[in-house]
Amino acid sequence: MKSITAKFGKTPHQPSLWTRADALKVRADDPTTTQPLVSADFPVLSDKVFIWDTMPLRDIDGNITSVDGWSVIFTLTADRHPTDPQYLDQNGNYDITRDWNDRHGRAKMYYWFSRTGKDWKLGGRVMAEGVSPTVREWAGTPILLNEQGEVDLYYTAVTPGATIVKVRGRVVTTEHGVNLVGFEKVKPLFEADGKMYQTEAQNAFWGFRDPWPFRDPKDGKLYMLFEGNVAGERGSHTVGKAEIGDVPPGYEDVGNSRFQTACVGIAVARDEDGDDWEMLPPLLTAVGVNDQTERPHFVFQDGKYYLFTISHTFTYADGVTGPDGVYGFVADSLFGPYVPLNGSGLVLGNPSSQPFQTYSHCVMPNGLVTSFIDSVPTGESGTTMRIGGTEAPTVGIKIKGQQTFVVAEYDYGYIPPMLDVTLK
Ligand code: FRU
Repeated sequence: MKSITAKFGKTPHQPSLWTRADALKVRADDPTTTQPLVSADFPVLSDKVFIWDTMPLRDIDGNITSVDGWSVIFTLTADRHPTDPQYLDQNGNYDITRDWNDRHGRAKMYYWFSRTGKDWKLGGRVMAEGVSPTVREWAGTPILLNEQGEVDLYYTAVTPGATIVKVRGRVVTTEHGVNLVGFEKVKPLFEADGKMYQTEAQNAFWGFRDPWPFRDPKDGKLYMLFEGNVAGERGSHTVGKAEIGDVPPGYEDVGNSRFQTACVGIAVARDEDGDDWEMLPPLLTAVGVNDQTERPHFVFQDGKYYLFTISHTFTYADGVTGPDGVYGFVADSLFGPYVPLNGSGLVLGNPSSQPFQTYSHCVMPNGLVTSFIDSVPTGESGTTMRIGGTEAPTVGIKIKGQQTFVVAEYDYGYIPPMLDVTLK
């Protein structure tokens, strides 16, 4: 296969590259880009369900929005099975780790509401059983459309396949809480095409998911970010000069890094309702660097485009590494060129002493970063883990030019609204 430049031609834009040289600058445990330690005595939102990816209700410009004073979040959710024989070990004890690790296969979209932007109360499932066309309801974005309370939920319908879909419903409030109604008709939008975005046929480990629609503050058009991999058969990608970047002598060997082909995808809507989409070449590629750039999202600040995406240690390519966490890139216009924040891209990573403490960070326009607790070491030896499946403490970061700084820590699951909409 050809280099990225040859692949996407001259129009309409060239993807920006996160290079191996950029990734060599990643430094775990730099206090300005490291999430404070999460204590092992964290509270859990629910002992009935695990939650992970958290999707705050927002408007199309990205502002976190409450309705009639109620904050609403959507979460990927799966039942906990403390008594199910399937999840008991040989001694009859609950194997929570196995239950937690299996959760992706039974992920469903749930919602929660709150008066305080924390202390979330469980609302229930967003869609009734049988509404979503596939087994797994994976991440996406709920968007409040108007003062009638209409909500478009964009998400990923997975297994079989992976399709970006949307379902429309409505948020209804009372004195006592929030109900989601409707959400009965799921509309498929698009799938990977095999030309720009890798398909399952090209790579069984492909990623195509996590839609994040937005209106470009400059051109006013409706777009959508999503996670993808660069098209092509697995193993056929080239890690050339451009993907390697300006590395010191001795760092030219890329090993098997051709297997890591993450990208941040973008599509443009052909209509105002967001029912008809055209995929465009990726905004950013990480060929030879990392295999997953998940849940991409923007913060628009100071006339700039701050692009954030989450990634893992285990998805890095040979010869480069970094912590689980959120990475970022900045550009002066939507189609780039993007440069990595802090030189490396790392914005908020787990400390090396607790490498799996949190994941699925979402940077909100007010600088608050929400994530979920995965697992935290316990006891003297630190060899046993406490599984989370609940909201992590929110972290505050300051975004300044091409740099970011950790500046604050807040309560567990603190997601305050930036706007309140009074429903008509
Ligand atoms: C991130 C993620 C998403 C995906 C979901 C599946 O934590 O991997 O990319 O939609 O979790 O559970």
